[in-house]
Amino acid sequence: MDISPPVRKLIMVGACYVDTILSVPQFPQEDHKLRARSLDRRRGGNVANSLEVLQQLQPAEGREYELLLLCVLPAKTSPGTKFVRNSLAEKVSTQHCVYREDHTEPASSYIIKADATGSRTIVNYNELPEMRVEEFQERVTSISRQGGGRMWFHFEGREVETSVACMRWLKERYPNVLLSAEVEKPNREGLELISAEADVVFFSKSWAETKGYQAAEELLRSQAPALPKASLLFCTWGADGAAVLRLRDGHCVTGKAKLLEGFRVVDSVGAGDTFIAGALYALLNQLDLGGGLAESALAAGNHLAVQKVMQEGFGGLS
Ligand code: FRU
Repeated sequence: MDISPPVRKLIMVGACYVDTILSVPQFPQEDHKLRARSLDRRRGGNVANSLEVLQQLQPAEGREYELLLLCVLPAKTSPGTKFVRNSLAEKVSTQHCVYREDHTEPASSYIIKADATGSRTIVNYNELPEMRVEEFQERVTSISRQGGGRMWFHFEGREVETSVACMRWLKERYPNVLLSAEVEKPNREGLELISAEADVVFFSKSWAETKGYQAAEELLRSQAPALPKASLLFCTWGADGAAVLRLRDGHCVTGKAKLLEGFRVVDSVGAGDTFIAGALYALLNQLDLGGGLAESALAAGNHLAVQKVMQEGFGGLS
């Protein structure tokens, strides 16, 4: 995937959550009581998590780009909005988010993190109305007016109809725009329609398994014929790493996610989001660590995701 001219703006479109994370020795039995080892409250949400990783990674010379978050937040001055904004470095712009002035609470997730298996079980609640197509178009128009430069939009697959409409509009209006999309949530019907609009697609293990696939490569090869616009497809596979398929020639590589000796999984919340950050970083910077761009993006994603699961949160990744 040759990205010239370089991308100057990476716009991450999705949702922000406030995560309340209970660490427990093992996953509780239904209708039982269990004492948690610790309780953490931190900003979550797939694209916000990816941005927290991306803000730490220095772009290569000549490849500098801005980072922007595009999501729905509650009222601008609400504590929830302040909490979200303070969680990201200044270099991540939240200026173009949609602020719902009649709401005070951000979306929230309650997460049970089990020491015994490293699993994370997430229950979400979100009252904020999703972004509408017109709201998205307004924001993009003002982003594109603030200094030109090529744009890359990454969509966390949310409302299918809205995302597809936004992606088609972007391609029509800005022909050299690049689009990536995440197909993650198994219970969201029709996410494959979003993947059909993207240049780069990230599939999750849980989505693949729900569709009956047993390995990342199997999933990627089965999806490829339905994705004529895509150049690269990725699929993460938890402890087994991830795979990438280059559509130009059908070349598929699987990369292992190896923990360092003596380490265990302490926090898998956002591991997939970290993988996406690493892969996007490699693509935007056209990193070739040997083996070509696709393999380098896979390696960068795996490398960061492994570091991430061995520690709490997203700080200090490189
Ligand atoms: C992790 C995550 C959490 C958030 C949830 C939203 O990938 O983004 O931070 O609460 O998923 O689905």
